[in-house]
Amino acid sequence: MQYKIPLFKLNFDGKEAKAAYDTINSGWISMGPKCAELEEMFTSMLHAKYSVATTNCTSALHICAVVCGFGPGDEVLCPSLTFAASANSIRYTGAKPVFCDIVGPEHINIDPKDIEAKITPRTKGIVVVHLAGFPAMMDEIMNIAKRHDLKVIEDACHGPLSEYKGKKLGTIGDCAAFSFFSNKNISTGEGGMFVTNNQQMAEEAQLLRSHGMTTMSFQRASGHATNYDIVALGYNYRLDDIRSSIAIEQIKKLRPDLEKRQAVREKYIHGLSSIEDLIIPFAGYKEFVSNYIIPVILSTGTKERRDRIRELLSNVGIQTSIHYPAIHRFSIYEDGIKLPQTEYVSDHEFTLPMYASLTDDEIGYICENVRKAIHETK
Ligand SMILES: Cc1ncc(COP(=O)(O)O)c(C=O)c1O
Repeated sequence: MQYKIPLFKLNFDGKEAKAAYDTINSGWISMGPKCAELEEMFTSMLHAKYSVATTNCTSALHICAVVCGFGPGDEVLCPSLTFAASANSIRYTGAKPVFCDIVGPEHINIDPKDIEAKITPRTKGIVVVHLAGFPAMMDEIMNIAKRHDLKVIEDACHGPLSEYKGKKLGTIGDCAAFSFFSNKNISTGEGGMFVTNNQQMAEEAQLLRSHGMTTMSFQRASGHATNYDIVALGYNYRLDDIRSSIAIEQIKKLRPDLEKRQAVREKYIHGLSSIEDLIIPFAGYKEFVSNYIIPVILSTGTKERRDRIRELLSNVGIQTSIHYPAIHRFSIYEDGIKLPQTEYVSDHEFTLPMYASLTDDEIGYICENVRKAIHETK
């Protein structure tokens, strides 16, 4: 089915295709100079020290977990209201994800109080997720981490250029991961980035990304090396130059695109705030954010009511989604833990279309239909 208004639209305009075409014609398509250029661009965009491009955000998160030293017997705290990759990446190392609740429907990120309550002698770290691009409570979280000697990984997949007290998300914890999946703010189909200010972590990440090899194919092809050693058990998490050249074009457009998204969000807030029964998380947040998605939450009713509202919106051509089905309820994670705020939001949230080219008429149409659906399901 083709929706009249999809959840997301790419902002490609021909520059991405040209960049990919030029890279293909350059004679070098796997990881090489374009990837290096992208990493430099990313580092300077975030005012960070090191960036290592990866195949996707999941692989960047896995690298984060390894360089933080997580392993069997360790516990790592993380939210359940996120995509499975945030927790899976902990499990890849043999460590156990311990799920924490979120603050509540107005602030849907991990709750520092629950973090503190769930720390045990086995706790080694915290994975925070900046949902929709809005920052988790980083001052409180970094303070807890310092007191308990814990590593902090930022899953900043939703938040390129989002700011928290003047700092870019992804530069506050020990290391961070970003995604270039096709519906993200920077879209290359698949792709990701590991970011850190820690030189040792950066060097380890570079090795892990490519089988622990001491030189890369491009260095050898360009005569800068003739052989290699393998000094760590790594992976093939390399980002190719075709996708890197697309990412470079995407990053050139990022700031203006996010400014348009900000205007879209303001119009949404204007159109939705008078609707009874509807909470817009982070509504009062004032700093610059990516506005990756626009989640809204019913303040009354059941999960069935939320599902019916989504159906009514779908009937008038509006695509919606859920961010997120809580991870701790999935079969492979289910162990009887209860997270009341997470469960409430997971059952009452729906996500509205968000992209820079959404028109005033479309936003008006969406808000009007949300109002109608809420009224009809009372
Ligand atoms: C919060 C979060 N973390 C991690 C990921 C994984 O990203 P990728 O698909 O690039 O591996 C996603 C993807 O949707 C996500 O939303």
